[in-house]
Parts: sequence; C-alpha cells; structure tokens
Amino acid sequence: MAWVEVLRDDPDIKNKGIVDELDKDIKKLTVVTERFSSIGSTPVLKDENVYQLINNVVGYLLPRVSSKINFEVYTLSETIQARVHAPLFEWVIENLCKNAVDAMGSSGTIAIKILRGSDHKVFIDISDTGKGIPKALIANVFRPGFTTKKRGWGLGLALAKRIIEMYHEGKIFVKSSEENQGTTFRVELKSA
Ligand SMILES: Nc1ncnc2c1ncn2[C@@H]1O[C@H](COP(=O)(O)OP(=O)(O)OP(=O)(O)O)[C@@H](O)[C@H]1O
Ligand SMILES: [Mg+2]
Repeated sequence: MAWVEVLRDDPDIKNKGIVDELDKDIKKLTVVTERFSSIGSTPVLKDENVYQLINNVVGYLLPRVSSKINFEVYTLSETIQARVHAPLFEWVIENLCKNAVDAMGSSGTIAIKILRGSDHKVFIDISDTGKGIPKALIANVFRPGFTTKKRGWGLGLALAKRIIEMYHEGKIFVKSSEENQGTTFRVELKSA
C-alpha cells in the first residue's frame, strides 16, 4: 500500500491510471485476506446497508466479466439494512454471482432483488438466465467438493452455506431452477 503511494507521487510515472488499478488490486487482496482470517473466528455482525454491499460486489465483477452479461439490482429501499459481517456477506454474493456467470456462458442477465420479509427478515434473490440445475442435482450443490465444472473446486456454495447458516443464522437455498431457463438462489438474513 505504501509503495503505491510512493508511485503515485513519483513524477516519472505519467500514467496514474496504472497506479489506480494497482491500488484497486491491493484493496481487493486486503478484502480476500480479511475473508480468510474471518473464517474460523467469530465474526461480529453489524447493521449494514445490504444494497450498498451488493453494489460493491457488482461494481467489482462488472468490468471482469463479459460485457454481454447484465447486472440488475432491485430494492424497495436503498437504505435497507441487515445484520451481517460485511466481508463474509460480500464473499457469498460474489460466489453466487460467479456461479451465475458460469451458468450463462458469454451472455445473460443476473438480477438481484432485495426484499423485506415478515418477522424482521431480509431476502436476497439472485437469479440468472443460465443453464439451470437438473432437478436430481439440486440436493448436491451445497456439498463440499460437488462440481460440474472442469476447473471447479465445489467449494463456493459450501462456503456460502457455512457463512450464512453458521455465522448469520440465516438460510440459503435454491428457490427455483429450470433447465435452460435459469436459476434463483435465495439468501435469508435478519434485518436490523
Ligand atoms: N447459478 C447456477 N446455475 C447452474 N448451476 C449452478 C449454479 N450455481 C451452482 N451450480 C452448480 O453447483 C455446483 C457447485 O457450485 P459451487 O459454487 O459450490 O462450486 P463450483 O462453482 O463448481 O466451484 P468453485 O465455486 O469452488 O470454484 C456447480 O459446479 C454447478 O454445477
Ligand atoms: Mg462456484
């Protein structure tokens, strides 16, 4: 981080855009480090603006996926809060979005809807227009090591489940899936 600041002040470096990109990458590495160090400790939950956190993830992923993939984020309130550990919550959303991208190939739409339920609950529905999950496989997707991808680890959803259920006392499940139509995952959290 300090070297980035040195580079930023260096008059020989004309292209400050590169320094900005370096800075973003270092910030992302900080986030990834934070994620791993939070797993295993008891994360402290705080009232966070989930619309903002989701937009952080979308903002990160957008320039990194095909330009034919659209992200849409819907919320009834832009100040909607839930009790979460921000780095771990963002990790879950990132994993769900990455799976959605993988399921769609080069083009499609990821729609994220933030809804308020009864009983102080917040629902986050993440839908894609991808290939869907065959009915017989839905029961397996959260199992560690289950993957249908050549280069997959089968860890993304197992981790997401652990984060949501163990650390947030929430729920995560496949809400619906149709072959060649798409899939919706739902995350249920407690609201502030
Ligand atoms: N949105 C989705 N659409 C279709 N299939 C999905 C979707 N999300 C998950 N799956 C299926 O569930 C499997 C498990 O997902 P998970 O994220 O746990 O592992 P992975 O994506 O294969 O590998 P990793 O996340 O560790 O890189 C995937 O391989 C895929 O078959
Ligand atoms: Mg995955």
